[in-house]
Amino acid sequence: PVQANGTNDLTLDILCTLDTQEPFHTAETFPQISQGEIKAALDRLASRGMVEYNTNVAEQVILTEEGQQICDEGSHEWKVWEAVKSKGRIHIKDLDRIVGPSAKVGQGNAFKLKWIKKDGDALTPVANEVTDSTRDLLRHVSENNTFPDPKQLKDYQKRKLVTSRKVITYTVRKGPRWALEIPVEVTDLTAEMLQDGSWQTANFKPYNFKALGEHQYAGALHPLNKVREEFRKIFFSQSFIEMPTARFVDSGFWNFDTLFVPQQHPARDLQDTFYVSDPKEAGPPGPDPAADKALDEMEADSQMYQGDKTSTKLDYQKYYDNVKAVHQDGAFGSIGYRYPYTDSETTRLVLRTHTTAVSAYCLHRLAANPRPCRYFSIDRVFRNETVDATHLAEFHQIEGVIADYGLTLGGLMDFLGKFFNKLGITNLRFKPAYNPYTEPSMEVFGYHEGLGKWVEIGNSGMFRPEMLLAMGLPEDLRCYGFGLSLERPTMIKYGVSNIRELLGHKVDLNFIESNAAVRLEKE
Ligand code: PHE
Repeated sequence: PVQANGTNDLTLDILCTLDTQEPFHTAETFPQISQGEIKAALDRLASRGMVEYNTNVAEQVILTEEGQQICDEGSHEWKVWEAVKSKGRIHIKDLDRIVGPSAKVGQGNAFKLKWIKKDGDALTPVANEVTDSTRDLLRHVSENNTFPDPKQLKDYQKRKLVTSRKVITYTVRKGPRWALEIPVEVTDLTAEMLQDGSWQTANFKPYNFKALGEHQYAGALHPLNKVREEFRKIFFSQSFIEMPTARFVDSGFWNFDTLFVPQQHPARDLQDTFYVSDPKEAGPPGPDPAADKALDEMEADSQMYQGDKTSTKLDYQKYYDNVKAVHQDGAFGSIGYRYPYTDSETTRLVLRTHTTAVSAYCLHRLAANPRPCRYFSIDRVFRNETVDATHLAEFHQIEGVIADYGLTLGGLMDFLGKFFNKLGITNLRFKPAYNPYTEPSMEVFGYHEGLGKWVEIGNSGMFRPEMLLAMGLPEDLRCYGFGLSLERPTMIKYGVSNIRELLGHKVDLNFIESNAAVRLEKE
């Protein structure tokens, strides 16, 4: 037990030893005491200047279990010779029974050493006296923890008779404040000490600035969560409001129809989308009270332009009819797809394939009180993908929506330029693309300095007039939309090349615990 002044038997033993023997080696003087205990005692003394020590790392040779057995009982060949000699003659087929499992190896070696010979189908002794040099050698190892002949060592290691281990020992000398006892050290300065003057002579314990705190086994944030937080800050700093994305399961209507993904489109196939089998169907499109409440509260708190507050009641049935009309016959300036619209497709329940399903819901809700606004979300989406190093069936999308009067495509490019600038991506290129819900649409490419090439970082566009007008939004209200994956920037930031190391059952918890907070380079 350690006393208040840091004394225990071992620390005193160390001080005493130095009185008569300096320097000394801990392995020789305290062979029974564990290295950890010795180090703790030495550190206590060294921090007071009472000892100084060096650490020596040495390689020791030790016996394996089999090596120990040979050391105790003799080598395999010796056991065979011994048995043959004592019986005078042994039938080969009886050898196993008499000598045990090592009979085969032992017999071979005993032949080589000319200790025994074959006589018909029996064994007879050749030598009267033998030296079991294997056993002698292993005895030497057991006593000295060294191997006499380095050339032979490899062979013995290969035969798994010996192995080596690292041992740490310390060479200890007196320190400048060496004494036979540890003086009492004062850890606190008290009012009494100030009054009676004893502080002037007190032996204060020095601060140990090298002491590390105990490891804290606390929870840790997943890298995806850390990057998500950084993105949220960027959105919040630009007056975006977070969309309620709790609805992982949504209807075909919100996930596909409102966004004019045609009902026969391959994206809606089983191979690409997960459909829910129980329950299979949603009710008709209608308000989501939980989502509405969350949005109401956030909007009330935000600095966003609130509009005139004279809100119109939303008519979901009318919206449904408008969407159907655009698909089937064309409306609001669109010629439509002109195919017969199947109502049952709209109520099929799916695991949402993009968060744009939520954006559609929020934009339709905006028609109750149309005004400029900025929405974002970062949440999970699901696709029936073949999983590989860069694809998972579940991942996260970052999505932004900006509605305002008089928006132009140039404004979207400007916004995206500034947005990605905040992530440290300064070099952007736009490529015309196609989305059934935006026109024009642009894929966003960023120049990746590390990879030395252009990488796709997002998708964007201006929502189509037939989409916004069908919702009941005014003619001159335009709307930008853009989306990117959360995994892509996280993998780049944390140097992860296989997405399965980031998400799913193969994630290493040490990786989660030991990763630093993310810092996206600021403008
Ligand atoms: N939903 C698109 C995607 O999954 C992203 C996007 C959102 C594009 C909004 C345009 C507008 O890639």
